[in-house]
Amino acid sequence: MISSAPPTLPADLRAFIEALPKTELHLHIEGTLEPELLFALAQRNKVELPYASVEALRAAYAFTDLQSFLDLYYAGANVLRTEQDFYDMTMAYIERARADNVRHAEIFFDPQTHTERGIAIDVVFAGIARALREARDRHGFSSAMIMSFLRHLSEEDAFVTLDAALPLRDQYQDLWNGIGLDSSERGNPPEKFARVFARCKELGFHLVAHAGEEGPPEYVVSALDVLKVERIDHGVRSEEDPALMQRLIREKMPLTVCPLSNLKLCVVDDMANHNIARMLRAGLAVTVNSDDPAYFGGYMNANYLAIASALALTREELLQLARNGIEASFIPAAEKARLGTELDQYAAAH
Ligand code: HPA
Ligand code: ZN
Repeated sequence: MISSAPPTLPADLRAFIEALPKTELHLHIEGTLEPELLFALAQRNKVELPYASVEALRAAYAFTDLQSFLDLYYAGANVLRTEQDFYDMTMAYIERARADNVRHAEIFFDPQTHTERGIAIDVVFAGIARALREARDRHGFSSAMIMSFLRHLSEEDAFVTLDAALPLRDQYQDLWNGIGLDSSERGNPPEKFARVFARCKELGFHLVAHAGEEGPPEYVVSALDVLKVERIDHGVRSEEDPALMQRLIREKMPLTVCPLSNLKLCVVDDMANHNIARMLRAGLAVTVNSDDPAYFGGYMNANYLAIASALALTREELLQLARNGIEASFIPAAEKARLGTELDQYAAAH
């Protein structure tokens, strides 16, 4: 288990991180399914699991690369059957996020993981959206939904998914504002999805894509040039291409970096070698995110604490990371300004 409480961090810095107002821009809702809830849903839906206990399942979370994780992540999603299941999973995430002082979250969901199993796309949208709307109304927790295509499937499949989702657009216009691209990166370059992303752009969606997690920096370039994305998810391998790094700085292109994910999936061998601090110090618009927190050992605070400890981040650097998250978010200007003011007040008070 990765420690979420690095022992070397001074208590005051730890408290500073925990109370810091945050935004989360890279979070797969299916990756928030904790083993306890996964078991409870399996029981509720009479789904047999190949694990004897919650502990046995958690012990299986020892990944060697992205694919070894994805295999378990897709298998785990099999317990999600009803609108209530999607609601319960989303509500559990919101509670964890609120405990970490996350103010705004932009949430990936993968309809193809569910429609492939015969679950109607309406069920997926409805369950997630009901939880997000409740959290907004009760707690002022703001959020957005980013529908993501699975890149190991075909572009035609992505078009089918888009066509199935578009009739729901009006009903979810308060939440669904983005399109993403995830799953197995190597061998599935962004350009495979050029036409469907072009269509989504015409339709007025915000566009993002995973690139440069396991894949080469060329995939980051084609995500920018071919897909026309507004943020790069992960992007840590961009550092291998100095010209790309200069471009990312110049264009103020946000990278949604996920430190504990990178460690768990062996994208980095040690948090002390993670490049988020180098990229931040070089002037890139890097942000901190939790990706699939139920699988990677921690939510937002755990990610901030892990990098602060391993990379000796200062308060100013931590504030900059939080500020980058607000700037990179897809929220109306007034809401952005409100979050910015809250962060300014936090900085002034600490
Ligand atoms: N990378 C690619 N696909 C994913 C990830 C990720 O980190 N998490 C969930 N699907
Ligand atoms: Zn991801």
